[in-house]
Amino acid sequence: MLSKEDNQLLTETDADKPMGQLFRRYWIPAVTSDELEADGSPVRLKLLGENLVAFRDTEGNVGLVDERCPHRGTSLYYGINDGCGLRCCYHGWKFNTEGECTEIPSEEENEKFRKTIQLRAYPTKEVSGIIWTYMGPEEKQPPFPDFYWMGLPKKNKLIERVWQECNYAQVMENDLDFVHAAFLHQSYDNQELEAEGVLSTDLGIDPDHPLVKNPPVKQHIQDTNYGKRCVAIGDATKDENAFMEIHYIFPFYTYPPRFSGEDGMWHAFIPRDDHSTWSWDVQFSHSSEIDVKAQHERRGLEVDKNLRKVQNLDNNYKQDRSLQKEGNFTGIRGIANQDHAITEAMGPIVDRSIERLGTSDKPVIQMRRLLLKEVKAFQDNTEPMELENESLATLFSEGWYDNKTKHWKDVFPLKEQFQVKEEKDAQSTQ
Ligand code: FES
Ligand SMILES: [Fe+2]
Repeated sequence: MLSKEDNQLLTETDADKPMGQLFRRYWIPAVTSDELEADGSPVRLKLLGENLVAFRDTEGNVGLVDERCPHRGTSLYYGINDGCGLRCCYHGWKFNTEGECTEIPSEEENEKFRKTIQLRAYPTKEVSGIIWTYMGPEEKQPPFPDFYWMGLPKKNKLIERVWQECNYAQVMENDLDFVHAAFLHQSYDNQELEAEGVLSTDLGIDPDHPLVKNPPVKQHIQDTNYGKRCVAIGDATKDENAFMEIHYIFPFYTYPPRFSGEDGMWHAFIPRDDHSTWSWDVQFSHSSEIDVKAQHERRGLEVDKNLRKVQNLDNNYKQDRSLQKEGNFTGIRGIANQDHAITEAMGPIVDRSIERLGTSDKPVIQMRRLLLKEVKAFQDNTEPMELENESLATLFSEGWYDNKTKHWKDVFPLKEQFQVKEEKDAQSTQ
């Protein structure tokens, strides 16, 4: 449960809100590389409550700029992208990717005036099929994060960005919730999985998979130098437990649970505004080509040109009551649709002052606590948590069966490179 004040602090991310300012201190995935063609159509993009437009100029440079034309305020989305700039289609003012005004056709003689016109533009970096941006103060820009999957070949990855119709925090809470997989994502029969490494079909996760068969009897949350590691221990057989982990990387990235041998998954939950989220999903295979078709189908997301879902609240996510009797727990097809349905059904911002949390909600509680602790410290001028690239580069979720008689920390330890520095130091002096 959170107070109304803390719920607001957690969920509001406009530029004048503390969490909004904190989030602007981290690198944000903005659009996929494929969405922008040189001299192609601009993409309209709302991020952290700001209306922006992304475009790729003639030379391939990417601009991420305010949607509002500085002249009289119309949308630059309708503009013309050619000749190394985006030209407003109202009076023809033209801007480069840095936001500098390069032409005012009706004021050709007045260069001095033109040079005073600046369109707000954010820096971008194109890495691993994604265009990233940093929206915070220039002098505070952190190093670019080196996530593990970035080092894998392009053919090993599938990257998707989807508009989710609720606040980022409830989307992320769902990702840290081990127990939901055993219910929301349960399919009633074991299925023939077409491709190796793929977790499920669009119906859901097999009843024999440890996420469904062995829901955690114990959960432990560990502080790490990237955020939190959430460990679940399930009762697998007489002799063995199932160990699985979720990584929460501050402030809005996650690695959901995966058993070793399965394709991995990385998420980022970027507020579009306080009532909607850009849900980023990178599916990756550690060592071989990803099965794009199987991975895409199992998630089941069909979207329109604005990346809004075809299965949505208006059509009850195409829930099929007979499928719910015979096929899976929800009667909804597509693992991602199941997640979207359940989080969007809470309303745009869930009221956390009236919820009833149990012990199984530990990871959710810890994630909120960390965000609130950091944002309150940030309000008192403490610098936000720094992510260390040496850690990010080797981090992903794993899981396996192991002997029940051993301590969980011995069979499923937190690797040394992820330990918080003070704890590492304390250990070495013992
Ligand atoms: S409003 Fe854009 S050029 Fe006039
Ligand atoms: Fe889920």
